[in-house]
Amino acid sequence: MCGIVGYHGREGARDILIDALRRLEYRGYDSAGIAISQDGSVKIARKQGKVSDLWNAICNENFEGSMGLAHTRWATHGVPSERNAHPHKVGDITVVHNGIIENYLELKESLKQDGRTFVSDTDTEVIPHLIVNYLDKGSDFEEAVRLALKRLKGSYAIGVMRDGSDTMIAAKKESPLLVGVGKDEFMIASDAPAIINRTNSFIFLEDNDIVIITNGEMRITDFDGAAVNREIKTVQWTGAMAEKGGYRHFMLKEIFEQPRALTETLIGRIREEEGDVVFEDLNLPDVSKIRKIWMVACGTSYHACLIGKNMFEANLRIPVETDIASEFRYRDPILDKDDLVILVSQSGETADTIAAMKEVKKKGLYTLAICNVLGSTLSRDSHGVIYTHAGPEIGVASTKAFTTQISVFFMLMLYLGKLRGVLDGDDVRRHLTELKKLPHHITAILKSSAAIEEIAQANMHYGHFLYLGRGINFPTVLEGALKLKEISYIHAEAYAAGEMKHGPIALIDENMPIVVVSPKDQTYKKTCSNIEEVITRRGKVFLFTDSFDHDMAPKVNAVFVIPETIYELQPILSIVPLQLMAYYMANHLGTDVDQPRNLAKSVTVE
Ligand code: AGP
Repeated sequence: MCGIVGYHGREGARDILIDALRRLEYRGYDSAGIAISQDGSVKIARKQGKVSDLWNAICNENFEGSMGLAHTRWATHGVPSERNAHPHKVGDITVVHNGIIENYLELKESLKQDGRTFVSDTDTEVIPHLIVNYLDKGSDFEEAVRLALKRLKGSYAIGVMRDGSDTMIAAKKESPLLVGVGKDEFMIASDAPAIINRTNSFIFLEDNDIVIITNGEMRITDFDGAAVNREIKTVQWTGAMAEKGGYRHFMLKEIFEQPRALTETLIGRIREEEGDVVFEDLNLPDVSKIRKIWMVACGTSYHACLIGKNMFEANLRIPVETDIASEFRYRDPILDKDDLVILVSQSGETADTIAAMKEVKKKGLYTLAICNVLGSTLSRDSHGVIYTHAGPEIGVASTKAFTTQISVFFMLMLYLGKLRGVLDGDDVRRHLTELKKLPHHITAILKSSAAIEEIAQANMHYGHFLYLGRGINFPTVLEGALKLKEISYIHAEAYAAGEMKHGPIALIDENMPIVVVSPKDQTYKKTCSNIEEVITRRGKVFLFTDSFDHDMAPKVNAVFVIPETIYELQPILSIVPLQLMAYYMANHLGTDVDQPRNLAKSVTVE
């Protein structure tokens, strides 16, 4: 996500804002910018690259003033560049923004028809244009901001300044924003780490709050201008804790961010009433000619491909071949010119996946990337790209990228199904209704994290775990086992449950806990037989399912109930307790959860 900071007080804003940006660097970003109100106008400076690059550009410049805004950008619309960096200044209005303006294209079109010209590729730039439009029509500054905000759909946290005014306005809808209350000063920030060094007193804004700061006074209103009261809370966080939003590790923070990451990934792409999915231009060739689809990736992203395969074949009836990128690139795969090749990567910099993409392009085929980082090599060099808007994933173990990758596969499956005429508007609408429930379902699972922690603490002494699942939940347990391995260093192996009698059953005894993921779908009864076989051999079973089974419950060591959803979406829910279990075991074992030994966040070498 982008990071916003603002300062309105008696000291020089420049150094305070640069320091605040440095405290937001952990969130990941690709460019930075600053705006200072000085001698009746707002001066801005922006740089692609690091905060240090921005500082070097302004440290010898005359950037004096006691009111200012600053921003670190994590690109979602418009590749990383100086002209796409924030702040954006249009006329006498300067804006910084975090979030996604879902209806920016239609707003941009209508503003262009009003004669306005745009200089960036961002969704953000529509905001200052709208405000200037209302100013030109006679509104005052506060009213113009309010009217502009009412036109926006999607998520945003913004800071606004105007030439010649000593008023700073901020507003929040879905994206985080807080106010820091200091001695004779107010600050705004995307989260506490940015300003924890200046104050421990915060107002955590609610959706549709508008903050107006002028002359040492701060007031909050709703979008209609009515006064709103918000409590000032004191937060006793250390700087290090604050960076993780109060979570002990980035991985835990990112597990808990999954409802928001999913929401942001869906925004602007699903049209439930029309029964449609829309993507930014994918430059797809004629999809009616596709006879085979390939899905290629590494690690967790490969597990997402296995889930994508399940849902594509079940609904599109097109054969899908999945492959690990390091295998695909050396086996000279038999590709047909009309095949669709999808490459998945959180970082967009995994060497084997990039190499696989190059192999496919060499053979003259179209390549579609599913990626989390704008401007990354894979996203830049593929013919088309669909971004997961999970925000920066700092923990080495991938969590929110995985669940958002699956949601993108699900939306792409609906999109292609509609284009190929195998799914109609009702089919798509029905699927989208279930998809939209997922953030709420994940939140419900996260509320039971203490139960997972209990299971983890009671079983973290085992040296080996066996994970079992069937169908679309076989990749789920592959991913669950990988999570445990890579952060707790406990050996874990995942198997298709039906394979147990073909070998792994020899491993079962009282020292081999078994994790079983089996929602009550068509294979549940079969999997219950596998559980019985394990129990008769004194194995300890932990069953993750979507409705409590009174027959099985007394036989297993624990049953964890996951909210019900449609088959294709089960992995997005089933993986969450497995992520938590791996996290809590690693945390209690004291391993370096965010930077596990021997691992890198992005394997940019072969
Ligand atoms: C997952 O937790 C691991 N960090 C690793 O398997 C990762 O998924 C793999 O290296 C692929 O990374 P990518 O998605 O950035 O390409």
